[in-house]
Amino acid sequence: MKNQLIIRGGKRLHGEIDVSAAKNSVLPLIACCIMSEREIHIRNCPAIADIYSMIEIIRSIGGRADLDGTTLVIDCKEANPKRVSSDLTGGIRSSVFILGPILARFRHATISYPGGCEIGLRPIDLHIYGLKSLGVRITEVNGMLDCDGTAKSGGIVDLDFPSVGATENLMMAGVLGQGTTVIRNAAREPEIIDLQNFINFLGGKVSGAGTGVITVEGVSALSGGEYTPIGDRIVAATYLCAVGVTGGNVRVKGIKPEYMHAVLQKLRRADCNVTEFSDGVRLESSGKLRAVHKIETQPFPGFPTDMQPQITALLCTAIGSSCIVENMFENRFKYTVQLNKMGANIIVKDRVAVVKGVPSLYGAPVSAEDLRGGAALVVAALAAQGESVISGVRHIDRGYDKIEQSLAVLGADIARI
Ligand code: EPZ
Repeated sequence: MKNQLIIRGGKRLHGEIDVSAAKNSVLPLIACCIMSEREIHIRNCPAIADIYSMIEIIRSIGGRADLDGTTLVIDCKEANPKRVSSDLTGGIRSSVFILGPILARFRHATISYPGGCEIGLRPIDLHIYGLKSLGVRITEVNGMLDCDGTAKSGGIVDLDFPSVGATENLMMAGVLGQGTTVIRNAAREPEIIDLQNFINFLGGKVSGAGTGVITVEGVSALSGGEYTPIGDRIVAATYLCAVGVTGGNVRVKGIKPEYMHAVLQKLRRADCNVTEFSDGVRLESSGKLRAVHKIETQPFPGFPTDMQPQITALLCTAIGSSCIVENMFENRFKYTVQLNKMGANIIVKDRVAVVKGVPSLYGAPVSAEDLRGGAALVVAALAAQGESVISGVRHIDRGYDKIEQSLAVLGADIARI
């Protein structure tokens, strides 16, 4: 895949766009398939790098996984993970939650300690604490995590923090076998509800997702079938930021508005006109926006950290100053250096960024260093005067499926070179 995007800004965006299945839903759903011995189809999948990485992980433990168009076909009947090869799971963050499913079905798992990434250390202490609370014996030996789940039973886990990944891992750990698992202070994200619906669709017994207390009753086996995950609320909100800042009129389909209310509220505060439908949202904007006094990232239903860079890009040319507080990750403002190269006026101190609106941004050569920071550079370049060349596009390709094609359909002057 080529590694640069060239964008000539100033084009208003118009039209309609459908979002694919949510990356942060499909990834745990793929892990969940490890627990079933039947063929499973996951529909409407985006062709993005993180999904290909999870496909490799399934194959590395002897399962079958193929992306046939937009349908993921997975069959873990032959899966037998003696040891997940460390060069695979060290790669992407989403691999840590293969622990739960492997323990549920095979009672033993060894994976490499998942690496940090560009936005932070990404510790897994809550995952380990939770699994130990359920009777899993975990030893850490030279960078590998050896998990013995022979004595795993149900139990109650009180999470210090509503971690999305830890909630998903612990939900899956309790799906097969005896006993009941209760997770308190669980994450409430829509992707958690989707995982509950998927597990129950396959014959599991999970309840409470979307509230702070999730209960999982062990069953003997899971079945197969075809499932369509929820749409990607972060991809959808990214496109809304794009049309908000360029000006125009775009309808994004395939996502429930209530999954984006925190973002929609801030876009309305910035003077975007937002209309909600049962299956999506229309945003109309003059392109001249107002600053938003303060945005703080929080666990769902608060403002999502995965939209922090994109909304900051939108506010660079708003009238007035906005204050952005990043409470979730310790290193998620790196992209602001690149935005300042385009003429933005952003001051960052620890987890706070102050964005002072400027009349316009100017095209420049910039580089993406993480997924959502890269998406923010695209948003900014679409509104900037002149030409921008964005390198490091592989980061953006982790979460956006051919982003240049989607935006070109809406009228953007963008190409991959
Ligand atoms: C998921 O990551 C998402 N990834 C992230 O999306 C998203 O930003 C994050 O949830 C928060 O919504 C996937 O779903 C694949 P967390 P996850 O555990 O599960 C700390 C994207 O751009 N923490 O809720 O890793 C952690 O350091 C990605 O699509 C611990 O301290 O998020 C962070 O500060 C980026 N110990 C905070 O909790 C732990 O054991 C949130 O982490 C686990 C997490």
